[in-house]
Amino acid sequence: MIFRKRSGAKTPAAAAPAAVPTHIGIIMDGNGRWAKKRRLPRSAGHRAGAQNFRVITRYCSQIGVKYLTLYVLSTENWSRPAEEVNALLGLFKEYLEESLRDFMEENIRVRFIGDVSVFSQELQQLIRRVEEASAPKTSMVLNLAVNYGGRAEITRAARLFAEDVAAGRCTPAELTEQAFDRYLYTAGQPDPDMILRPSGEQRLSNFLLWQCAYTEFVYSDILWPDFKPSDLDEAIRLYASRQRRFGGV
Ligand code: IPE
Ligand code: IPE
Ligand code: MG
Repeated sequence: MIFRKRSGAKTPAAAAPAAVPTHIGIIMDGNGRWAKKRRLPRSAGHRAGAQNFRVITRYCSQIGVKYLTLYVLSTENWSRPAEEVNALLGLFKEYLEESLRDFMEENIRVRFIGDVSVFSQELQQLIRRVEEASAPKTSMVLNLAVNYGGRAEITRAARLFAEDVAAGRCTPAELTEQAFDRYLYTAGQPDPDMILRPSGEQRLSNFLLWQCAYTEFVYSDILWPDFKPSDLDEAIRLYASRQRRFGGV
């Protein structure tokens, strides 16, 4: 079900819905269309989206979300013009540096999921610094999916398992769903309860394919840079109204 933007509706943090999902995933989409509507370059949309990343991350930690996974850059986004990819990477670095203080203040632990080995040494160092500095933080885990693809993650997990078998550390018969889970980037974390996609698109675009087996999807027509905490409240209310059956009755 899609919810549409309501005019002027605002929900203060104190009125956040009670049934807050433990793990929320967000496909932060619609930056380009946001910019186009304003006759601005796409990079301006990405900057507005990056600003909103800080707002929504902080809000999630305040309302008691325990895991937040944000789709920042997919393995397919490299097919965009080099200028746009460079602008995205530049913003990622800038906002990571700027947000570090927010993460510390909000007691947020930051993890990166995806293949970060393709990034510059400087960016990889920053990634390590953020992970290490925030490692003791306990209020919320923020997974940033960068150069992430669900298929790449599953392929990588299969490769790591095959390497363990080849090295004699385990046997093929030991591979259960739970054992496979330990080879994923999200090892040890609960599956997402709700995946939210702003911007009107109704697809996964290679996000958390393994982890989404029983996740509730919520779509919104609102473009990511316009997506407010009150819109997240509405998404959570919609989520809370669903009956999750996990194959049972
Ligand atoms: C999401 O916004 C940001 C990334 C994919 C990195 P888009 O750039 O996909 O925005 P639209 O879909 O073109 O509006
Ligand atoms: C998904 O959005 C990736 C991110 C938000 C990072 P896209 O805009 O790349 O997805 P498609 O191309 O519309 O499926
Ligand atoms: Mg898009």
